[in-house]
Amino acid sequence: MSMQLTNDEKAMRDGRDGAAVAKAMDLLIRYGNALGAADFVETRNVCGTVTATTPFMRDFAMAKGGFDAVFSEFNLDTADVVEVPQVRAKSFHLQLGFDPNHPKEMGVSEETVQFYRRSEAVVARMGVNMINTCTPYQVGNVPSFGEHCAWMESSAVVYANSVLGARTNTEGRESTSAAMLTCRIPRWGLHLDENRRGQVGVKIECTPQSNEDWGLLGYWMGHWVQNQVAVLDGVQHQPDLASLKHFGSAASSSGGVELYHLVGVTPEAPSWAQAFGGNPEGEVRIYDAQARAQTLDKLNGQTQNTQVDYVMLGCPHYNLAQMQRALELLNGRRISERCALWLFTPHDIKSQADAQGLTAALEQAGVKILTNSCSAMSRAVPPGTRVVALDSAKQAHYLPAILGVQAWFGTTAQCIDAACTGVWSHA
Ligand code: F3S
Repeated sequence: MSMQLTNDEKAMRDGRDGAAVAKAMDLLIRYGNALGAADFVETRNVCGTVTATTPFMRDFAMAKGGFDAVFSEFNLDTADVVEVPQVRAKSFHLQLGFDPNHPKEMGVSEETVQFYRRSEAVVARMGVNMINTCTPYQVGNVPSFGEHCAWMESSAVVYANSVLGARTNTEGRESTSAAMLTCRIPRWGLHLDENRRGQVGVKIECTPQSNEDWGLLGYWMGHWVQNQVAVLDGVQHQPDLASLKHFGSAASSSGGVELYHLVGVTPEAPSWAQAFGGNPEGEVRIYDAQARAQTLDKLNGQTQNTQVDYVMLGCPHYNLAQMQRALELLNGRRISERCALWLFTPHDIKSQADAQGLTAALEQAGVKILTNSCSAMSRAVPPGTRVVALDSAKQAHYLPAILGVQAWFGTTAQCIDAACTGVWSHA
């Protein structure tokens, strides 16, 4: 059955608002029909990727006549080149494929950066907020409870759904671009009440204390539940933003978790029963010290070499409190000449760190502060890197697979000790 369209949606499809909006509606209707969606929800909050950062896109633009051609082909899925209009929805740009302020470290040519800059200027003129981060919720985009959104980026999606109670599926480059122009996204998946109810349960007997602990719990849970909605009970302390960021990003790496409920913490889980919302409870597993230890073994089991070449912090992108904590953990020490420490944060947060003197203090100790991207996205690490140390289970999941390096996963304190000594310590 085809999607039900309002008169406004039919008019957009039929060209009332120009060729680009018509192409965007056509794309969304094809997408919604393929998903079996009955109709659209209105969204005024979209996070996606619009700019062009690859030599392939640069060559495509040069051959076809500019950025409009790139947007038409890769964002609206049409070979017809349409002029790109202003966005209608409140729209935000997610992380990039590199940090354009550090082309040497990122291994990209000046020419590629120049092409990116031109595409950035066009996209900003369209009305897209260039936050360039995987953590929109840290730099001003905090959707309200129940708000329908269209977001890409798995770690941001799980945070929006679970911690904020907003409603989004994990969208793609094309669907978010079309949503920016039309304020529409198909009503399916996590936009619907019935898909937000708990399906399986976790009883936590080993309460997470540090971000590392939250990452381990998330990694364990994601591996088990895959894309089911889990209800977790037994948290003794109110977790902060960084803990929940590490938890969700780990769960969406080892599995396809887009929504979880933490009883007494997240907004759709005032109680165990309410989080299930009438669904049968399904399987309930216990997370205990043994499960934690096995998960840590799984993440660290392939790594033998304790000589660490590179420490990466900032997956998901660090906030000011985490940068401050990194400085405290350095405690006057410098990064070893045998090692490098790169810290990734949104450029808006770096501006605040600059103003507070935090950037200068970290750089004095030998830390390199980068923005807009990360090692997994950019595939960039310091030259000669064989062994990395990470405080993010998500990055520990991806980086060895992407770059063939060995990875240690541990606490931020362990990572900073490794950066200062060049050696990983299990203590
Ligand atoms: Fe962000 Fe990169 Fe991690 S984009 S969530 S820092 S893999």
